[in-house]
Amino acid sequence: MGLRKDFLWGGAIAANQVEGAWDTDGKGLSVADVATYKPNVDVKDYRKQVGVTMSGIEQAIQDTDTKYYPKRRGIDFYHRYPEDLELFHEMGFKTLRLSIAWTRIFPTGEESEPNQAGLDYYKAMFNKMHKLGIEPIVTLSHYEMPLALATKYNGWEDRKVIDLFVRFCKTCFVAYKDDVKYWLTFNEIDSVTRHPFTSAGIIPDQTDNLLQVEYQAFHHQFVASAMVTKACHEIIPGSQVGCMLTKLTDYPNSSDPRDVLASFNENTMNYFPADVQVFGEYPALVLNYFKKQKIHIDMTSADLDILKKNTVDFVTFSYYMSLVSSYDENNLTLTTGNTIVGGKNPHLPVTEWGWTVDPVGLRISLLQLYDRYHKPLMIVENGMGAKDELTADHQIHDDYRIKYFRTHFKEMIKAVDAGVDLLGYTSWAPIDLVSASTSQMSKRYGFIYVDEDDLGNGSLKRYRKDSFAWYQKVIKTNGIDL
Ligand code: BG6
Repeated sequence: MGLRKDFLWGGAIAANQVEGAWDTDGKGLSVADVATYKPNVDVKDYRKQVGVTMSGIEQAIQDTDTKYYPKRRGIDFYHRYPEDLELFHEMGFKTLRLSIAWTRIFPTGEESEPNQAGLDYYKAMFNKMHKLGIEPIVTLSHYEMPLALATKYNGWEDRKVIDLFVRFCKTCFVAYKDDVKYWLTFNEIDSVTRHPFTSAGIIPDQTDNLLQVEYQAFHHQFVASAMVTKACHEIIPGSQVGCMLTKLTDYPNSSDPRDVLASFNENTMNYFPADVQVFGEYPALVLNYFKKQKIHIDMTSADLDILKKNTVDFVTFSYYMSLVSSYDENNLTLTTGNTIVGGKNPHLPVTEWGWTVDPVGLRISLLQLYDRYHKPLMIVENGMGAKDELTADHQIHDDYRIKYFRTHFKEMIKAVDAGVDLLGYTSWAPIDLVSASTSQMSKRYGFIYVDEDDLGNGSLKRYRKDSFAWYQKVIKTNGIDL
């Protein structure tokens, strides 16, 4: 059987991790612009990097440098995107998943008129993509909400943010109705409870009942996502709107039924945001969890109606690793992902950053998601952060990365052969960029090397890694020659 003929091969990036130009052409500060790089912190404990406080934010607003705020400089994609898109085209990309920075369009989120320079920037980018035959898949919120909405409203805790986000999205739909068919609302929507500030603008030390506020923020994002789905379908006939989940595939630590139950519970909580977006209602088990935890969500009947009537067209997800659960945490050795801590699987290797490498887990994830949702799927993030060495003759021999992708693609194709309807695959990330969690450059993901270190030193020149030619061949043969 194999992959469909029009399979969307490509890569995925986010504005705040590549663009830089943090204060150019009217852009406002986003939550990403205050994320700091901390040189001496254990990268396996990301939470020390991203622990956010109001005083830390105030200090960051005063700082005007980019040295310790790598997302402010990114990889200068803002100015270099034509060259980078040409490189993606050379690899044969059919698609590129990217995000629109809300703060380029509405710098504080509350302006009455959009910033024309921001709208023009993405218009030019989409034009270039279409000339190169690259279909854009656009994420509307990828860890980069206006900082002003975080400090003023505690982010998505406040219902007011729904309308502000819907206005931003409608502005994008009108501006790019001829350019973009595929839209995703919230990146890794399940991440609100893992990193509330980055994901939802919630400032933990300004928040009394964090768990309650996190689930309220979830609810506001669900309602916003449904309203945006409706608007997108109305403004752009034929458009497709997807949800985006971090697929945290969890296995029981043993066949002890208590471990199986613990794993079931983990998976239930991981699926729940996508359940709401696909089925248009909260799962009963999750509502019961809220009751038990004394979480009271402000949820109107109008909200429930909006959710029910405006479900997503397709399901997208990131897959990096699997985890293991037990009824007794003492039975587990813990390991980390970027923002994830969980049980380590003794059968699987881990990367230098602690991520479990589990290609079969990707097949399992595809089967589970398709079986649960009966919707077309797209893998919109998958990849491996690693240290690369640039040789004196500007080569990067990244056989470890090729191995990672090859093993994952084999499993992906097996899932398709088993009957999964898979629309496409976008690697994270096709070009080195600033890490979301640790703000490092040295944790490299790309097929293209960017000459820049963690503190921003380097020529920013791009070099093709060995994996570049390999991915080019994979795309050319539609996954037959791995
Ligand atoms: C995903 C995010 O969680 O993982 C991306 O959607 C992120 O933004 C990616 O970059 C890899 O994580 P990290 O922390 O290594 O950049």
